[in-house]
Amino acid sequence: MAMALITGVGGLVGSECARFFFKKGISILGIDNDMRAKFFGAEASTTWNTKKLAHELKDRFVMHDIDIRDVSAIETIYKDYASRIDIVIHTAAQPSHDWAAKEPFTDFSVNASGTLNLLEMTRRYCLDVPFIYTSTNKVYGDTPNYLPIVERETRVEIDVQHPYAKYGIDESMSIDHCKHSLFGVSKAAADLMVQEYGRYFGMKTACFRGGCLTGPAHSGTKLHGFLSYLMKCAMTGDPYTIIGYKGKQVRDNIHSYDLANAFYEFYKKPHSGEVYNIGGSRFSNCSMMEAVALCEEITGKDMNISYVEESRIGDHIWWISDVRRFQDHYPEWSYTRNVKDILEEIFEINKDRWCQIKSAVVNTVSE
Ligand SMILES: NC(=O)c1ccc[n+]([C@@H]2O[C@H](COP(=O)([O-])OP(=O)(O)OC[C@H]3O[C@@H](n4cnc5c(N)ncnc54)[C@H](O)[C@@H]3O)[C@@H](O)[C@H]2O)c1
Repeated sequence: MAMALITGVGGLVGSECARFFFKKGISILGIDNDMRAKFFGAEASTTWNTKKLAHELKDRFVMHDIDIRDVSAIETIYKDYASRIDIVIHTAAQPSHDWAAKEPFTDFSVNASGTLNLLEMTRRYCLDVPFIYTSTNKVYGDTPNYLPIVERETRVEIDVQHPYAKYGIDESMSIDHCKHSLFGVSKAAADLMVQEYGRYFGMKTACFRGGCLTGPAHSGTKLHGFLSYLMKCAMTGDPYTIIGYKGKQVRDNIHSYDLANAFYEFYKKPHSGEVYNIGGSRFSNCSMMEAVALCEEITGKDMNISYVEESRIGDHIWWISDVRRFQDHYPEWSYTRNVKDILEEIFEINKDRWCQIKSAVVNTVSE
């Protein structure tokens, strides 16, 4: 039976892909060492989600608690399963812009070297299978912040005359001459390596450069998981601090289900060395102010919001992904949920869990 190797299987994207591919009749070979709990503390642990997967997917789910940096452990997995693996979906990462500066060695080794380990083992043991990498819009650094920004009542926008205004930012934006953050660099290093394994070795690799990836399976926390954590604060009454840009900064948000579906389209008809910007696009996006208003509408409660006038290094003021390259290659793919749908779903699914939690922490807007 076909098998998908999914790294970071307990995380938002990994777990959604596991459920999605499982429903398509594919078995799941998961890797996750719950390093998210090391990065962000116990409240961000993804163990609850891997346990849930084991329960739901039963004997078509195998889970290995190993570190993607451990090359010999990774090689053993490939040796054991090579003949069954049909696709590799690599989502394990240190995912936070801000956290990376605390431990640059850890960030770079997980994001860049960990990705190289997986690429090289895929090349050695299952050269022909599609390899999907969850990259990020942070590879473009702070270049989007130099677009002509116009302030509106609840958000910033870019000048309507600008070529990116109608559909968002496409893959032609340069990744050079800008400030990336250490996270942006470790992800960009991996992104280039994924492209190179496509171009140099002819492998079926793709980088999906995500805007905000979101959904109810996110273990949202202060430094990562923007909509999930915002809704958590809305439900628990915990304070939430908006950092900079008057709360008018704009993010596009894609549900992890729609992303998993995009990966499935690529799996069916893979390209080589591809790069796609992927996010909510013009279909699903919001400013911080708009997201807070939506949370208040859905919960029926005012949020405990404060504001600090500073901005995070390299933080995007406005990001909307132009997803037309992907749509052009895969015309059957479409969105199923916008920001409001996503927030309503996060609220419904986590009602029992979060209405009882109290965790007095201050937040930033993150991916
Ligand atoms: N969430 C977003 O908004 C967003 C945006 C753009 C790109 N991305 C990228 O998408 C991918 C998935 O993001 P997510 O939100 O699902 O992240 P997540 O933190 O929810 O999931 C990642 C999983 O990887 C595991 N992991 C981390 N380091 C590991 C290691 N060394 N070995 C084994 N497992 C490890 C973690 O424990 C976690 O369960 C990441 O590569 C991230 O950089 C995310």
